[in-house]
Amino acid sequence: MAGNKEDAARSGSAVLEAIELKKWGGELSEELVREVVEGYTGGAVPDYQMSALLMAIFVRGMSYGETLALTAAMAASGARYSFPECVDKHSTGGVGDKISLTSLPIVAACGAPVAKLSGRGLGTTGGTVDKLEAIPGFSVALTEDRFRRQVESVGLAIAEAGDVAPADKAIYALRDATGTVDSLPLIGSSIVSKKAATGAGHLLYDVKQGSGAFMKSTQEAHELASLLVRLSNDSGIRASALITDMDEPLGAAIGNALEVRESVRFLRGEETPGDLSEMARAVAVHLLEIKGIPDAEGAVERALSSGAAFEKLREFVAAQGGDARALEDLPVSGDVREVASPRSGYVAGFGALGVGRAALALGAGREKKGDRVDPGVGVEVLVKTGDGVEEGQTVARIYGTRNADGAEAMILASLGISDGPTRRPPVILGSL
Ligand code: URA
Repeated sequence: MAGNKEDAARSGSAVLEAIELKKWGGELSEELVREVVEGYTGGAVPDYQMSALLMAIFVRGMSYGETLALTAAMAASGARYSFPECVDKHSTGGVGDKISLTSLPIVAACGAPVAKLSGRGLGTTGGTVDKLEAIPGFSVALTEDRFRRQVESVGLAIAEAGDVAPADKAIYALRDATGTVDSLPLIGSSIVSKKAATGAGHLLYDVKQGSGAFMKSTQEAHELASLLVRLSNDSGIRASALITDMDEPLGAAIGNALEVRESVRFLRGEETPGDLSEMARAVAVHLLEIKGIPDAEGAVERALSSGAAFEKLREFVAAQGGDARALEDLPVSGDVREVASPRSGYVAGFGALGVGRAALALGAGREKKGDRVDPGVGVEVLVKTGDGVEEGQTVARIYGTRNADGAEAMILASLGISDGPTRRPPVILGSL
């Protein structure tokens, strides 16, 4: 008991010292950062003091050394796993982003084992866990032992990130409530702390840029990408990053079952939008390159054309209790409404944020943590920037009835049509 009181007193003075230092633009030592994080996670540092420190960090920023110290302290706050042979990818989040579902079976089929802990979606950003749960029977709740055995036997396991970096979970919730989310060092340390605790040795970041992404500008996306790579390398992970477009939804489908269906079509070699096919291949190639697998491009093409990548998806789904046969025809809402183009011309943009909000209104995502998602609802966009359209042509389909009028209005407001021809922007904007 006396020990607890002493700890609390030490944490209380550490956080006050940290607030005073940061308030005037000073530098926090590694030890001070660790004491504050441990104090907050253990309950000795109250929310109001942590909020004050977060706001001081938001305003004053953090040096690279402080950011690395925060990353390490948050990574050490909960369970730690070690999969040095494995690859993993992390997307900063987008609309219709099904690249984990498509690229990871490819790399696993090429002999690069994947150990991935994933999250649920929030707002317009989808989560891989929600998409996988659209498959009947699929479980994301694996014990460590089962997860490890599946990585060894199947070469691909994806579980819900439950007990990694609890300090980040608590601090992120506080940031959300105190207007301190959009701070580069806080975002970078938050993401990398979870990846370091998950323990995959090879990692590719997919930093999204555009209206449907966290990072709206090229400069912000580059800054985040280079911070993520540097923090990861200094945490013992071989990492690289792609910067990719999120002005438009990725592929056609937005909504959990719709996205799994589109991923299955891609892995089976059926026709899917070019941006999805390009991105899934590029991510798979980069992951194999980080892992040091020779002729990565050839290996990816062989895994797709032989059917090995689709077979790996089926094997992975079955291993986690899912009905692999259901993959061929996953149920979606039978209430389908077609959205017609209001005029003829060329698509100048189909805003990811607006389409994502439409899917959210239909019930495909959650407005706040804990909301229930409806796996069978969502949106399909049928045109992309650069396409010609005729008045009355179907440009999108709405699946589901909840707020369908509002969803239709949001989709139409996101569709830009110009009189003259428009050019499709590149999908991959940069890499490092
Ligand atoms: N995603 C995270 O995991 N953390 C952040 O701070 C922002 C996005």
